[in-house]
Amino acid sequence: MILLIGNWKMAPEKASDALSLAKKTLAIARTYKKIGVAICVPTMHLPFITKQIKKTLAVGAQGVAAMSEIAQTGLVSAGMLKSYSAQYCIVGHSESRARGETDEQVALSAGLLLQKKIIPVVCVGEKERDAHGWYLSTVKEQVEKVVTTIPKAQLKQLVIAYEPVWAIGKNAVREATPVECREMVIFIRKVIADALGEKESQKVTILYGGSVNEQNAAAFVSEGGAQGFLVGRVSLDARRFAMLAKNIALLA
Ligand code: PGA
Repeated sequence: MILLIGNWKMAPEKASDALSLAKKTLAIARTYKKIGVAICVPTMHLPFITKQIKKTLAVGAQGVAAMSEIAQTGLVSAGMLKSYSAQYCIVGHSESRARGETDEQVALSAGLLLQKKIIPVVCVGEKERDAHGWYLSTVKEQVEKVVTTIPKAQLKQLVIAYEPVWAIGKNAVREATPVECREMVIFIRKVIADALGEKESQKVTILYGGSVNEQNAAAFVSEGGAQGFLVGRVSLDARRFAMLAKNIALLA
């Protein structure tokens, strides 16, 4: 099933706006049942959104502590997210990595989420591309650390989102092409296959993220080999998110 995950980042500011957007997104999920729709919302908004929205639309968070000991001021545990019915949690987003999240922490967080039956959406991606292909080693290290840390039996619950940092957000250098996406999907599976075997590499779901919109999404599935998307800005605009869902539901 094609997966469409909205990454709301640090928006909306008001609880009422968050609930209204969640309800509009729920309507999108109900209309396009052939695809799986989810939203990863600010932790602050999670409890009341999951209270009001129980079915069809999956709700998740955007970060979790990489350790389970309770003496961690300011952090939120996987168990807390579970107690508010989170089904997904983004880890290793380039914006969190820029704030210091390491490959080790990403892998530990993914393991703790899986223990609580929350699906980790692990973001990987290079900051920039270079002619020698050094950027591939960045992605290799990010992927290897996660897949070799979590139990093998849980690989089929793992979601990896390939998000080239240069293609994300308002400051994107340019959009990635479906061909670039396809190469990375193949590369990521090869990294997993080299570490754990070909059969295991097929179990992981690989999404694409980075300036995905209603116009470019379909090609990332049909030509780019993406099994779905992690979408930032467009997920905050229900009309555009609905168009995006409609366009990829045609391929499902
Ligand atoms: P964008 O963000 O779709 O606004 O580029 C994607 C992301 O950061 O997950």
